[in-house]
Amino acid sequence: MTAEIRRHPDAETLAADVASALLARLEESQSSPGAVTHVALTGGSIAEAIHREVARRAADASVDWSRVALWWGDERFVARDSSDRNAHQAREDLLDRVALDPGNVHEVPASDDVPDVEAAAASYADEVRSQGAGEFDLVMLGVGPDGHVASLFPGRPELQVTGAVTVAVRESPKPPPERVSLTFEALARARAVWFVVNGEGKAEAVARALADEGTIEETPARGVHGRDETVWWIDEEAASHLPR
Ligand code: 6PG
Repeated sequence: MTAEIRRHPDAETLAADVASALLARLEESQSSPGAVTHVALTGGSIAEAIHREVARRAADASVDWSRVALWWGDERFVARDSSDRNAHQAREDLLDRVALDPGNVHEVPASDDVPDVEAAAASYADEVRSQGAGEFDLVMLGVGPDGHVASLFPGRPELQVTGAVTVAVRESPKPPPERVSLTFEALARARAVWFVVNGEGKAEAVARALADEGTIEETPARGVHGRDETVWWIDEEAASHLPR
């Protein structure tokens, strides 16, 4: 199944369009009574802009947030109240502004919850598996300039992990150094994958990810596809190395 590319003039428009599409997808998924929609959020700057836009639009949408379950594709192993923590930023930008059921917000344990990053990864894996097949209706992923997604970086052993839904990452090339990431196997359980990417600095990574040839080892974003849908939400700068 080929990926769909949705180009936007700039990051602001990109964030607004993704936010609107996310709210629409949540509304649509809730048409079956009682269904809980599982969404894995991502860290990063464009994700923060998207979260803020979702919060801004939420009042005009008919989403029952108590039926939205939130996860993270990766998380930094830092203190729970650290501004470096993806969940901490997401709470400020979105989670504290909508009526979620706290039992449906699945944060990765923080460094003040468990002794080490391996324990955090194990605990998060238990939580993912506790939700049945550990499937996600939607996984959102930022992409690094090196083509990393979540905390799966080029050339790293975490890319080879099988038989696990999470992996502990030490000495991450992107600070902070310790992280927990979903594995490719976990990400492969996503029905829909939305990559959200802006800026000239990502243009090479986007081109490598979407090229006919290339390796997952060099460009981890090549290793993630939704079972039903894969969409690249990009702005013109991030699209600038794509063939016209
Ligand atoms: C993290 C993110 C990471 C991020 C990309 C893009 O925890 O750092 O999950 O995978 O999404 O590095 O980040 P930017 O959008 O800020 O470039």
